[in-house]
Amino acid sequence: MKNVKKLITGLLLFVLTLSLAACNSSSKTSADDKGIQKMTIKISHVVAENTPKQKGALAMKDVIEKESDGKIKVQVYPNSQLFGDKDEYQNLVANNAQFIIPDMSKLVGNDPGFNIPAMPFLFESDQAADDFWDGEKGKEIFKRLEKDGVLGLSMWPNGAKHITNDKKPITKPEDLQGMKIRTQGGQLLESLYKTLGAGSTSIPFGELYTALQQGTVDGEENTYSNIESKKFDEVQKYTTDIGHTRVDYALLTNTKFWDGLNDETKAIIQKGIEKGTKVARKSAAQLNKDAEKKMEDRGKTKVTKLTSEQKDAFKKALEPVYKEWAKKIGPDIIKDAESRK
Ligand code: LMR
Repeated sequence: MKNVKKLITGLLLFVLTLSLAACNSSSKTSADDKGIQKMTIKISHVVAENTPKQKGALAMKDVIEKESDGKIKVQVYPNSQLFGDKDEYQNLVANNAQFIIPDMSKLVGNDPGFNIPAMPFLFESDQAADDFWDGEKGKEIFKRLEKDGVLGLSMWPNGAKHITNDKKPITKPEDLQGMKIRTQGGQLLESLYKTLGAGSTSIPFGELYTALQQGTVDGEENTYSNIESKKFDEVQKYTTDIGHTRVDYALLTNTKFWDGLNDETKAIIQKGIEKGTKVARKSAAQLNKDAEKKMEDRGKTKVTKLTSEQKDAFKKALEPVYKEWAKKIGPDIIKDAESRK
């Protein structure tokens, strides 16, 4: 009798576990009469809310939830709430998030082509960057992630990066000598700072404020909207408006998740992606402008805008880095990127 009871309890527990697992699943469950698959989608990213990435993600959410009559729920997690820089890619591969939007500099270990935004003074505008990533070579680089089971869907810009630090105003290459700069990662950025006589280290975005505050590093490079929305200017006395490198994002999904969508569901999500891309692209430049103004008003950091002659000095100093990495990335890719100016 005892054994029968145990068996029944065991069976009940097994059935309960199975049904809970089915409820928790964030991938497709069932299709309604319009053929839309019911599901919850997670979008994870590391930056704050007043950024093009969050605006784009919310626009995606809005379209997908409306078009699916709420059958598809979209949860957006900003500020590394769900996953940080170190684990978001793995969690996309594991389908624990269905979309991530990393800065391409965090993908350079997957393919050298993602160093394009770190190539000094390569693109002169968001438009040039958009055009490159929409073009044949950009798509070719995205395609190289397919070996990981990851699909590159589109590029979202943030914009030009500027250098902040807590030591002194930077107006010429020599000013960086002896400083320690946080980068988003990758050998190109490392060699860029080495060429300027500075050390560098990569620190996850979510840990950067503390690292700057505690003096673990002297400075960092970022867009105005990232600097302002995370209040890095509070702990960095100097900002140099230089625009030598960029933050550009790759909107990525999990291939298996994507291939598991039926046509009706995919069309809705595709519509969301198109809207998200449009909104991110449209809002990036204005958000940077607004952030620059807010930083000025806060008055915590002194912003120095480099003249074109001062920028030329950095361009010249960084020429060897550009040349070396043009070879590594591939001359055909660089030729295409340079034609987008
Ligand atoms: C950074 O780490 O500084 C940026 O790449 C963060 C981001 O996603 O914009």
